[in-house]
Amino acid sequence: MAATLSHTCLCPNKLNMLVLTNHGLGYRSKWSGIKSSRHKSYNMITACHRGPDVNDRFRSLRCKCHKIDRVTDATSENRDPVFKSELSANGNGTFSSSLHISGINSIEEEAWELLRASMVYYCGHPVGTIAANDPSDSSILNYDQVFIRDFIPSGIAFLLKGEYDIVRNFILHTLQLQSWEKTMDCHSPGQGLMPASFKVRTVPLDGDDSATEDILDPDFGEAAIGRVAPVDSGLWWIILLRAYGKCTGDLSVQERVDVQTGIRMILKLCLADGFDMFPTLLVTDGSCMIDRRMGIHGHPLEIQALFYSALLSAREMLSREDASADLITALNNRLVALSFHVREYYWIDMRKLNEIYRYKTEEYSYDAVNKFNIYPDQIPPWLVEWMPNKGGYMIGNLQPAHMDFRFFSLGNLWSIVSSLATDDQSHAILDLFEAKWADLVGDMPLKICYPALEGQEWRIITGSDPKNTPWSYHNGGSWPTLLWQLTVASIKMGRPEIAENAVKVAERRISKDKWAEYYDTKRGRFIGKQARLFQTWSIAGYVVAKQLLANPEAAKILVNVEDTELVNAFSCMISANPRRKRPRKSINQTFIV
Ligand code: GLC
Repeated sequence: MAATLSHTCLCPNKLNMLVLTNHGLGYRSKWSGIKSSRHKSYNMITACHRGPDVNDRFRSLRCKCHKIDRVTDATSENRDPVFKSELSANGNGTFSSSLHISGINSIEEEAWELLRASMVYYCGHPVGTIAANDPSDSSILNYDQVFIRDFIPSGIAFLLKGEYDIVRNFILHTLQLQSWEKTMDCHSPGQGLMPASFKVRTVPLDGDDSATEDILDPDFGEAAIGRVAPVDSGLWWIILLRAYGKCTGDLSVQERVDVQTGIRMILKLCLADGFDMFPTLLVTDGSCMIDRRMGIHGHPLEIQALFYSALLSAREMLSREDASADLITALNNRLVALSFHVREYYWIDMRKLNEIYRYKTEEYSYDAVNKFNIYPDQIPPWLVEWMPNKGGYMIGNLQPAHMDFRFFSLGNLWSIVSSLATDDQSHAILDLFEAKWADLVGDMPLKICYPALEGQEWRIITGSDPKNTPWSYHNGGSWPTLLWQLTVASIKMGRPEIAENAVKVAERRISKDKWAEYYDTKRGRFIGKQARLFQTWSIAGYVVAKQLLANPEAAKILVNVEDTELVNAFSCMISANPRRKRPRKSINQTFIV
């Protein structure tokens, strides 16, 4: 059964003439009532469907924007040209990139137009951006949904443009989906899980032909390919919430009781005790941007970096009331243990590789050097050649007797942004990007991971996944969206020229290639075999990179600066480590580790 909220439709037909009641904030209390109920989805009677209709995406987009009652002026002003120009169908049914047909004179302008065209509306309010807006694609799968992780660069772009409503709406709407009851074969995901994506469905209102209603329908992985739970969604949600507060100066959203509860629910899920000996988060394969089997189950770097960033961000936002005290203690302890663990055990450079090469194994003791019993033979031949003299990186994953030596861009970049990596390590990661430019940037930034799995390894690890063939998609493909994370990281370290150069490479093709989702081959020369065109986070990633390069100060809304208490607690652990013989500093240790 679906719950129906009480906003009556005042619109006589589906496409036009929206006259909305001002329900921007008024429906909160009703939602909280629904949260604890057992409804599968919630509905709100609304006037018009403004979101991209699968069959008539562009036509419906045209009418949507002028009807919203709470969108900033900047939004409506800038939006008009979008719908005047562009995106007309070619004879063959495909669409041309508007830059080439309507005289738009910069790639950035085109990107903005496309980004606006990807906006999804719920009850007349913008709530997110569709994953891909590719009209030539007949197999839409779930690319017509708003993905939480995909929306982050869109949200940042809108924030930096001063268009805050869409981000606030996204934050509050996804919060309502957080505790939704969803099951797969009778099993429900943990409380606090954020969905991977959601869809706005517009359906005829029962018994009334002249009205429709919008339904927000979340997917927690129960419908996703491979049924993977999106561990990263909640972490990204916290990161975006903080960025919203920092950018707008409006702390009222993060201070709301329901938002505070949402933060606490995510943290409780992440900090729950399990069987694990490590402070890193234990997850299944495909729990993040790489949402298919790629051998990243266990403790993948990307999740650890987002986890660290979310913990630091949550600590800034949690209200200092008694209810949060235990959580904050647990959070502080985890932060210290996590940064120690990743900095010590995930880091490799020439020196460390040489150390691993000479590891003794089978050390049973408390002061073992080779704690995880890594057999030196695991060092892959490619890495012996690949590791530059100057530079280093965090490995992809660490398990007992297993180091995944693949280089994963997002995890490494977010380790810099979140200060999970030390300053020296952060610079070394950027050094590696420079040293391995041809491999990591090549003809289109940025390689998702390096190198690709091939042959028998590919067969076993991906399960012979035809989408993840070597140098394609998640298996060594190149993803333009990663430009924005590269930009934040290089600005944080005072080396924006790295991002500038990568943006120049992208600009040679990104618009001509219609904003493809990903590229194939070792150097990223071909548009990905199954890549969507007009992929929103390719567009938004580029926009954010440009915005930040023009205004580097703005990167602060995403950066976590390590605080001195953490640094002190960390160096205390370092000096207690038998491998290091550093003098113990006299410090106040605030955390119990
Ligand atoms: C692919 C990507 C995933 C993304 C989704 C929507 O599944 O792997 O990270 O969120 O597409 O764009």
